[in-house]
Amino acid sequence: MTVNDCTLINITQVNSDCGRLSVAESNTDIPFNIKRVYYTYDIPCSAERGGHAHRELYQLIIAVSGSFDVTLDDGTNCQTVFLNKPNTGLLVRPGIWREINNFSSGSVVLVLASDLYKEEDYIRNYEDFKLYRK
Ligand code: TYD
Repeated sequence: MTVNDCTLINITQVNSDCGRLSVAESNTDIPFNIKRVYYTYDIPCSAERGGHAHRELYQLIIAVSGSFDVTLDDGTNCQTVFLNKPNTGLLVRPGIWREINNFSSGSVVLVLASDLYKEEDYIRNYEDFKLYRK
């Protein structure tokens, strides 16, 4: 898995006079089965979130409100993606270090995840991550 495998995915949008609705379904709109949803909010603009990789977990990260940068690192190459649309998700595959920062005021980070929360799936130390990628 490299940063180039972490693609942007368009999320279906239904527009009407009373607003927009976006929907993502497991295994069709996104390439994994959603087992968990979480979101972060009330994020200070100067916050640095992420700072870890996952061994097995797939995630789709969506800026449902506001904007932020996601920097992806596969141990060789880095790429920063700016997310600011509720109908666009960033697919983060396993084995990719991610850092999230540059939060706008009122930003909300929605994450769709392929598995339940398992701390043992995290790699939280960057040197451990570099060894893991070798
Ligand atoms: P973390 O995944 O490190 O958040 P971020 O990548 O946004 O910086 O999780 C932050 C804390 O929340 C950590 O103590 C673990 C806890 N947590 C759960 O208890 N359940 C979850 O599903 C998630 C994602 C985190």
